[in-house]
Amino acid sequence: MRSFEEYRSLINSHLTDLLPDLPDESEVLREAMAYSLEVGGKRLRPVLLLAACEFAGGDTEEALPYALALEYIHTYSLIHDDLPAMDNDDLRRGRPTNHKVYGEAMAILAGDGLLSSAAETVTGEPLKYRDDPEAMYCHVRAAHEIMSRAGTSGMIAGQTADVTGENRKATADLVRYIEEHKTADLITAPVRAGLMLAGSDDVTLGAFTVYAKDLGIAFQILDDILDFEGDAEILGKSTGKDLAQDKCNYVCVHGMEAAKKELHRLTEEACGALAAFGDAASFFGDLALQLESRNS
Ligand code: IPE
Ligand code: IPE
Ligand code: MG
Ligand code: MG
Ligand code: MG
Repeated sequence: MRSFEEYRSLINSHLTDLLPDLPDESEVLREAMAYSLEVGGKRLRPVLLLAACEFAGGDTEEALPYALALEYIHTYSLIHDDLPAMDNDDLRRGRPTNHKVYGEAMAILAGDGLLSSAAETVTGEPLKYRDDPEAMYCHVRAAHEIMSRAGTSGMIAGQTADVTGENRKATADLVRYIEEHKTADLITAPVRAGLMLAGSDDVTLGAFTVYAKDLGIAFQILDDILDFEGDAEILGKSTGKDLAQDKCNYVCVHGMEAAKKELHRLTEEACGALAAFGDAASFFGDLALQLESRNS
């Protein structure tokens, strides 16, 4: 297996591959889509997809379009999340948010465009395997995994609960629902899709699903912790917003100390879920530990 940095640079070197070629009349769409993709980002989700596929003996070249599609979906979710009607943020990935540069109408369209390019890609890839039904099945399964977890019972449902949860009495169940869907679904999707592309068995899929869900929830809890304690300069986004907008999150409901404890518990549980795979899965355990102490 390769290192996180190696997977990340592979993603970055193909980042604009799925962007449309457009005539002058609509060229600004491509520009706005490219802007938010190219300003930076950890690329956690596409790296997870490539790593999971390679771990299970799959071909990373075949997996690359799905990994890019995941990053496009994640980036669209951030553009829309930052809009004035949602979290109203001016800074993302260290640069002005999409709507600050291109205006709200273009930011909405750039998000729509990123989602559509992702959908076109993941539904187009399986068509290349029409002479090999087994391979085609693996590809369709991966495509469905990505689009359903990004969709109306996945990330969008989580964002809905996040937005409607503002200024409402937060409960532990509501907070867990939000973490699980707005964030963990887009972290579970790449792990499972990568394994599916490689034709993994159900036992492997089950163990990695536990890992990814824990990792995803832990990732959001730390995002919430960093909104209180982080450095906006290092994070590349503004801080102190969740309290100001009265968001339902782990820190607000359980307090900072409990949030840090839960982050650690989930990280340990994530690592434990892959214990049966031993050193072969060390990439994923190491990643969980690194993410636990991230500051950006
Ligand atoms: C931010 O995700 C949104 C959350 C789900 C917390 P990341 O922290 O992965 O953002 P980038 O991709 O590195 O900008
Ligand atoms: C965003 O959660 C989750 C999605 C975009 C799906 P947040 O609103 O907490 O993310 P940041 O803090 O703006 O990155
Ligand atoms: Mg939000
Ligand atoms: Mg936000
Ligand atoms: Mg946040």
